[in-house]
Amino acid sequence: MKIMVYEARQDELAELEAHGRTLGVELTLAEEVPSLDTAQLAEGCQGVSILGQGRINGALLDAWYALGVRYLSTRTVGYDHIDLEHAKKLGIRVCNAAYDPNGVADFTVMMILMCLRHYKQALWRGQVNDFSLNGLQGREMKDLTIGIIGSGRIGAQVIRNLSGFGCRILAYDLRRNPEVEGMAEYVTFEELLEQSDVISLHMPLLDSNRHMIDRETIARMKDSVVLINCSRGELMDIEALVEGVESQKIGTLGMDTSEGEEGIIHGDHRVDILPNRNWFYLHQFRNVIMTQHMAFYTDAAVASMVRCGIRGIWEMAHGQNCATELMK
Ligand code: COI
Repeated sequence: MKIMVYEARQDELAELEAHGRTLGVELTLAEEVPSLDTAQLAEGCQGVSILGQGRINGALLDAWYALGVRYLSTRTVGYDHIDLEHAKKLGIRVCNAAYDPNGVADFTVMMILMCLRHYKQALWRGQVNDFSLNGLQGREMKDLTIGIIGSGRIGAQVIRNLSGFGCRILAYDLRRNPEVEGMAEYVTFEELLEQSDVISLHMPLLDSNRHMIDRETIARMKDSVVLINCSRGELMDIEALVEGVESQKIGTLGMDTSEGEEGIIHGDHRVDILPNRNWFYLHQFRNVIMTQHMAFYTDAAVASMVRCGIRGIWEMAHGQNCATELMK
């Protein structure tokens, strides 16, 4: 069988080739992001594998279906970029990735610590031999309450990681995870907002939680709250974040994902003009750390993403159980 692999990065090539060889699958690799303009690349392929930068809407799925595509894998855990209902209507089967949560959880703790210790400013100063301490006094985790929104695989691993720091840990989720019960205290969403010094989001993006962090929820938080987002940018309303940083209600913002990041992240834009005022306005603050959606990016996760992406399609196409198939 043939699989068209979009958004293929150099660091994925060895794993892609190895899985293609092992399974006897012919892979066509392209750096292009999937869109109607690049749909034609999938001609003659039963399977398409993508990452997270394209919007996989009805029109694109129709175009792929017409070209013979019947299986789609996203080499990402999140699948909010895919119109799953439309795929189901067409009969295109879809699977995602299920890499271990450790990489993102490690990165989240790093982001919390960098925010608490004003590390962006310290790093900037070091570039010009300014080693002063003024304005860099931090806070210790043991004195803080850290609120984790979402206690699924990643949220639970963040809680596990944090449990060694001596902080009080609060958790909010619609479903309780028994694995975190002894380490975190489940509270209501409002209690978490009101009591936490640091709030970190670990939710999948759904229609129901888009902009769950907005003007009203920020207003309920403690003054100088530290807000962390290593899950999906659109969980936070970027306009409300701008206002929160300007008013200093938000003390520090650490975002590996942010609303409007498409077309910015994972690219070198040194010579580009990027018309995205909110994103770049936030980016320039000394107390706002924005990374390029890289929390996932470890050797172990990339190997697993490629494996799920290629093997998942192969399993669905060969009548085998695909553990990461969506809408089974
Ligand atoms: C995910 O796996 O959901 C990610 O956020 C990773 C990224 C390549 C989009």
